[in-house]
Amino acid sequence: MTVLVTGGAGYIGAHAVRALLRAGRRVAILDDLSTGHRDTVPDEVPLCVADIADAGAVGAFIAAQGVSAVLHFAARSLVGESVADPRKYWRDNVAGSVALLGAVVDAGVRDVVVSSTAAVYGVPERSPLDEAHRTNPVNPYGATKLAVERALADYAAAYPLRYAALRYFNAAGADPDAGLGERHDPETHLIPRVLRSASEGCEVAIHGTDWDTRDGTCVRDYVHVRDLADAHVAALRHLEAGGAGGAFNLGTGTGSSVREVIDVVAKVTGRPLRVVEGPRRAGDPPVLVADATRASRELGFSAARSSLRQVVEDAWAFERGRSGAGGL
Ligand SMILES: NC(=O)c1ccc[n+]([C@@H]2O[C@H](COP(=O)([O-])OP(=O)(O)OC[C@H]3O[C@@H](n4cnc5c(N)ncnc54)[C@H](O)[C@@H]3O)[C@@H](O)[C@H]2O)c1
Repeated sequence: MTVLVTGGAGYIGAHAVRALLRAGRRVAILDDLSTGHRDTVPDEVPLCVADIADAGAVGAFIAAQGVSAVLHFAARSLVGESVADPRKYWRDNVAGSVALLGAVVDAGVRDVVVSSTAAVYGVPERSPLDEAHRTNPVNPYGATKLAVERALADYAAAYPLRYAALRYFNAAGADPDAGLGERHDPETHLIPRVLRSASEGCEVAIHGTDWDTRDGTCVRDYVHVRDLADAHVAALRHLEAGGAGGAFNLGTGTGSSVREVIDVVAKVTGRPLRVVEGPRRAGDPPVLVADATRASRELGFSAARSSLRQVVEDAWAFERGRSGAGGL
C-alpha cells in the first residue's frame, strides 16, 4: 500500500519521502510545485502536480496509487505573509486541507499525519511548552494550522480516521548526500540566512539584544529535518498499530539563541559574518522551546541529529553544494 505525501516536493516533505523509502514504503507525491521543486522528486516516485483543494484530482490519484495513508505537508507557511494576506492562508491551508480530508475520508484512508507548528500556541506561558499548553495563535498562519487540527479531531471522532498532528518548532538542517536542503524563496529562516551571509557576504540582522534570555537574543528550538522526517514514519507506524493520536511536539527541549547560531555558523564556515544589531520585532516571543516528552515516549522520537553543530554542518554542506561556495 502506498503513502501519499502532499507537499512532498517541499523542504520537509522531500526529506520525509526519503525516510519512507528507507523504511521500505511505497510513496506517491501530490504537490502543486508552488514552493516545491520537481528535481527533489525521486525518479521512482509518482508525482501528481495538483492543488490539494482539487478533490477530484486527489481522489483519482488516491485510487490509482492504492493509497492507504497520508502525510500532509502542503501549506503556506510564512507568518508575515499570513498577516498581510490572510485569505490566502484560510483558502490554501484550511479550505485546501478540508477538501483533501474529504477525499481521504471518501476513499476510506484511515491514517493521516499532518504538519503542524509551535505557532498554534501563540505567546508561551511557560517553557518548555508541552501539548497541554493553551493554544492561542497570534497570527493567521498559526490560526489556520490550529483550524486544521480541530477539523481532524472532529473527523476522527465521527469517521474511521486516525491522525497525528506533529507540531514542529524550527525545522533546520539538510541531507546534503541526497541533495536536499532549504530552498525557500523568500528565505525567512535564521540558519539558511546566516549561512547566506557567510557565503555571499550579505548582512544578517539580530532583532533585539535586550530580551530576558541568557545572552539577550531570542531562543528557538532547532530540530534537524531528518529527525522530523523519521518522526513522521514513526507516527505512521504508531497510528497503524492502533496508538493514540492527537498532537505531538517535535523539538529538542533545549533551544539556541540567535547569537549561538551566529557563533556556530562562524566556526563551521570559517567565514566572517556581517552582523547588524537592531530593535526587537513585534510579536516575537523571547523563548520557544518544545517539551517533546510525549513524542519520545509514544513515538520513540529522538532528536539524534539535532545538535546545533550537526544542523549547521549539514545545512552548510548543502549550501556549498548548491552555490559552489566551497571553492571560495
Ligand atoms: N519549515 C519549518 O520550520 C516549519 C515549522 C513548522 C511547521 N512547518 C510546516 O511544515 C510543512 C512543510 O513546510 P516546508 O518548510 O517544507 O515548506 P515548503 O514550502 O518547502 O513545502 C511545502 C510544499 O507544499 C506544496 N504546496 C503548497 N501548497 C499546496 C497546495 N495547495 N496544493 C499542493 N501542494 C502545495 C509546495 O509546492 C511545497 O512543495 C508546512 O505545512 C509548514 O506549515 C514548517
